[in-house]
Amino acid sequence: MKPSSKPNNPCFSSGPCAKRPLWSLDALKNAAVGRSHRAKIGRARLAEAIERSKKVLGMPPDYILGIVPGSDTGAIEMALWSMLGERGVDVFCWESFGSGWATDCKSQLKLSDLRIFKADYGKIPDLAQADWSRDVVFTWNGTTSGVRVPNGDWIASGRQGLAICDATSAVFAMDVAWDKLDVVTWSWQKVLGGEGGHGMLALSPRAVKRLETYTPDRPLPKIFRMSKGGKLIDGIFVGDTINTPSMLCVEDALDGLRWAESLGGLPALIARSAANLKVIEDWVAQSSWAAFLAEDKAIRSSTSICLKIVDPAHVALPADEQAKRAKAVAALLDKEGVAYDIASYRDAPAGLRIWGGATVETSDLELLMPWLDWAYQSVASLT
Ligand SMILES: Cc1ncc(COP(=O)(O)O)c(C=O)c1O
Repeated sequence: MKPSSKPNNPCFSSGPCAKRPLWSLDALKNAAVGRSHRAKIGRARLAEAIERSKKVLGMPPDYILGIVPGSDTGAIEMALWSMLGERGVDVFCWESFGSGWATDCKSQLKLSDLRIFKADYGKIPDLAQADWSRDVVFTWNGTTSGVRVPNGDWIASGRQGLAICDATSAVFAMDVAWDKLDVVTWSWQKVLGGEGGHGMLALSPRAVKRLETYTPDRPLPKIFRMSKGGKLIDGIFVGDTINTPSMLCVEDALDGLRWAESLGGLPALIARSAANLKVIEDWVAQSSWAAFLAEDKAIRSSTSICLKIVDPAHVALPADEQAKRAKAVAALLDKEGVAYDIASYRDAPAGLRIWGGATVETSDLELLMPWLDWAYQSVASLT
């Protein structure tokens, strides 16, 4: 039967993600628009975004954080291009974005001493293979497969190499083991529901040391450069951005951070995401047609929650027919105004991907579950 109540907010995209509950454009009314980002007012806002982020995330006091161009991609590429090549590199990847960083290491940076450990969608490579005398690149949460690392225990405390982590769909929703990470990147449009365009780059003292002692033999465009003459350009990490940021986006990021603080900070954000995953786990447990792409609970994401269709009648169909059906389920829910953007990522196995980050209300996911059954049955009965 068609459910009668719809989620209050149908935004379940895995990025840009839902705005925080009760968000409106009013949140931006004090934005320093029309002002220079280098003026006192603009600089203060940028510094505030850095400081509040550090505080909410509980970053170690000797780590530094900067706002950089090009969103999360910009932040991670800055690190890869500026730091890699000093020693051998291990890349662990298990979905589209991590595979992209592996491709960059291989085909663009052409690193001569490179090992790539790759797993299929839904799985994770054997993390025990990491050699911590080398640099290690990985994604904390693979957004397109819904697989995350279980914790930071596999990362050596006394490592000689750097742990370089794309954590864009993890920070603010998962416990990220800061002391085990040297480079951490994210963007604003994920867990706190900010606007796209800007990247955040956190560096440990050892990462800073790498920047100050190693100059790669490759050209670096201005927007990637973090050091000059063997010295860190430290202004980047107090709000002197490399190029012009959007003060509207900065204001929105501040709004998200203030909201996070009002809830009780990181533990509250993590609890919201965990509760969201639990709703879907309870529903999957009694579903006759859906299962998690990440079968192992220890590596299952609480943000980008990926589902596959396991109904035997569906699995018996040719692959392209299965893909068409999964897309049709997502399209029907979109048309009904119940759930937007929940088809799986274009390179991932056909299925559904539902965002469970902190800005999503658990009550909305509860309302969504019966709609999934209705949409699947509707599509299956037509095809
Ligand atoms: C794990 C991961 N890395 C990188 C990106 C790219 O992020 P951005 O668009 O902020 O550059 C995404 C986007 O979804 C992602 O999920």
